[in-house]
Amino acid sequence: MKIVSLLGSPRPKGNSAFLADRFCRTAEALGAEIQTFALNKLKYRGCQACMTCKTKLDRCVLKDDLTEVLDAIRDAEALVLASPIYYGEVSSQLKAFIDRTFSYLGPDYVTNPHPSRLAPGKKLVMILAQGDPGEGQYADVFPRYDNFFKWYGFTESYLIRACGVLGPGEVEGRGEVLRQAEDAARRTAA
Ligand SMILES: Cc1cc2nc3c(=O)[nH]c(=O)nc-3n(C[C@H](O)[C@H](O)[C@H](O)COP(=O)(O)O)c2cc1C
Repeated sequence: MKIVSLLGSPRPKGNSAFLADRFCRTAEALGAEIQTFALNKLKYRGCQACMTCKTKLDRCVLKDDLTEVLDAIRDAEALVLASPIYYGEVSSQLKAFIDRTFSYLGPDYVTNPHPSRLAPGKKLVMILAQGDPGEGQYADVFPRYDNFFKWYGFTESYLIRACGVLGPGEVEGRGEVLRQAEDAARRTAA
């Protein structure tokens, strides 16, 4: 199984990256092939709303570092989106990527209930780290994006969430969240 993992934090040793690493190592031990992209190291723009992916092409017209990422996801069976919570949302690095996934939708996306250009049945794993210890805070983030990826044909999804972690690596001592990451990896790679 091919898994693409996107790191949305600018901190290479941050909490979301640590959890993504735990997830990926566990899946790798079960035979998965992992391709990781640290978004903060890439150069790219957000969606330009040019509509070329609806009128002339079946993909995004922009040629930048996200081109390879968007192509890799077409070939993958699972996608990991790891991000810190910044101002109640995913990081801008991850959000700009998500906007570019607009190119996965065909021209009839308004009327067609299954407008995705992606093969159906992919799995989504969302990893979120936030400083606030309250689980009710930002609980809306995962379901919102989960819905959009369901629209793209993703059928299974898992959330791994660390609340109350601020400094990089703080999640290392949170056994329950680490087990969540390992568990999600076993289910994804199964
Ligand atoms: C610019 C910025 C905005 C943040 N906004 C929030 C926030 O709205 N709510 C929250 O609980 N934590 C917030 N945090 C804290 C991070 O979510 C927390 O440190 C998290 O563990 C970072 O994940 P990372 O280690 O993967 O980068 C913010 C941190 C930064 C740097």
